Amino acid sequence: MKTMNLPGPKAREIIKRDAEVISPSYPRGYPFVMDHGKGTEVWDVDGNRFLDFAAGIAVVSTGHSNPKVVKAIQEQAEKFIHISSDFYHEKWVELGEKINQIAPFQEEAVSFMTNSGTESVEAAIKLARHYTGATEFIGFLGAFHGRTMGAVTFTASKPLYHRDFYPLMSSVVHAPYPDPYRPLLVSKPGEDYGVTVVHYLEEQVLGHLLPPEDVAGILVEPIQGEGGYVIPSPGFFPALRELCDRHRILLIVDEVQSGMGRTGKWWAVEHFGVEPDIVCSAKGIASGVPLGVMFAKKHIVTWQKGAHGNTYGGNPLACTAALTTMDLVENGYMQNAVEMGAYTMKILEEMMTRHPSIGQVRGLGLMIGMEFVKDRQTREPDFKLRDLVVDHAFLRGLLLLGCGSSVIRITPPLNVTRSEIDQAMEILDEAIQISEDGVEPKIAEAETVAA
Ligand SMILES: Cc1ncc(COP(=O)(O)O)c(C=O)c1O
Repeated sequence: MKTMNLPGPKAREIIKRDAEVISPSYPRGYPFVMDHGKGTEVWDVDGNRFLDFAAGIAVVSTGHSNPKVVKAIQEQAEKFIHISSDFYHEKWVELGEKINQIAPFQEEAVSFMTNSGTESVEAAIKLARHYTGATEFIGFLGAFHGRTMGAVTFTASKPLYHRDFYPLMSSVVHAPYPDPYRPLLVSKPGEDYGVTVVHYLEEQVLGHLLPPEDVAGILVEPIQGEGGYVIPSPGFFPALRELCDRHRILLIVDEVQSGMGRTGKWWAVEHFGVEPDIVCSAKGIASGVPLGVMFAKKHIVTWQKGAHGNTYGGNPLACTAALTTMDLVENGYMQNAVEMGAYTMKILEEMMTRHPSIGQVRGLGLMIGMEFVKDRQTREPDFKLRDLVVDHAFLRGLLLLGCGSSVIRITPPLNVTRSEIDQAMEILDEAIQISEDGVEPKIAEAETVAA
């Protein structure tokens, strides 16, 4: 398979300029400099073509520049681009009505529109405190909820996110996430590991540390994203819901990465048969136009006029992009995620029989993780090999992103085709083989430029 010489001259030049004026804090994976995209295909500024199986961190749910989304944004831009949240407009209301229709609970849903995932989480934290009058929270190790002061306090996937930023928000206690592949706690014989984790919450956290009546909410990702595409043990959510009900604690789910049809249902929490009280959404909701939504059961949203707001909330470009996105997701793309997800999983499982470095593949719909290990018995993570695979795939025209300690996430747009999956899997297969053979990728020069 042909490899590209990356980054090309134009990309190199832009990366050099970027290093002068853009914050060095951005995590930049490898030197891809975008020029344009169409569906799952993207081109860099030097004319190189790639398949985008990262989709801007699971954001471009309808593919790059989906013509219907583009048209909706153009039409809205001709009318007005902004009015501020001091006033009203119809697309904003329509979006609230749509969220109400697809919310993963029976009760009516009331929405607060934000500009990002982290802002949706901040809104949820404030609403939970406001409604319950309680101050404390429980989060999970490995979680990612964003980088603003409140959300980053819950984020516990890397110490880097906290280093040099203390003091964070007080009042958050972290528990192990119910990862069945890497359990931290010991289950009783026959016990579901998710139930084990909830027993730990009950007996250790609430039993020794936090008075239950002081806990406002438990914030949890239905599938951990940045933490490694971890699907919780099946008993977890039902037991957690029961614990929340018993102690009158709000169950807040962060669907920023897992929502909007990516797993084959509107919301990943629907796979586990429980109703949350508050939902945080963003990323895939508007195909890349910055938008988040925090929505909750109506009886919880009791805060008074002015208690919480923002300038851009309900931005008309974002609302119209979201409505068009949801229409596409509802009318074919979510079903495609189910079918293409199953198709991809089959290919990955076959790949696993040939590559001893793959410890596990797991996924729901098109939210798929592939974990690399040094040894299948010990399950010791092989993050170096994972990084090699990502780089070799890049050189062959496939964009991937890592997560967790040694996982690659596979998150193409929800309208990805079978033929695009075949092409991507062929590249991935070769990238794994060459990485297992210990071949170093040749993109070091770009990294020097970027530094
Ligand atoms: C589950 C989850 N929550 C929150 C966030 C934060 O979203 P944003 O980067 O839009 O602030 C992310 C981003 O990766 C996420 O994956």
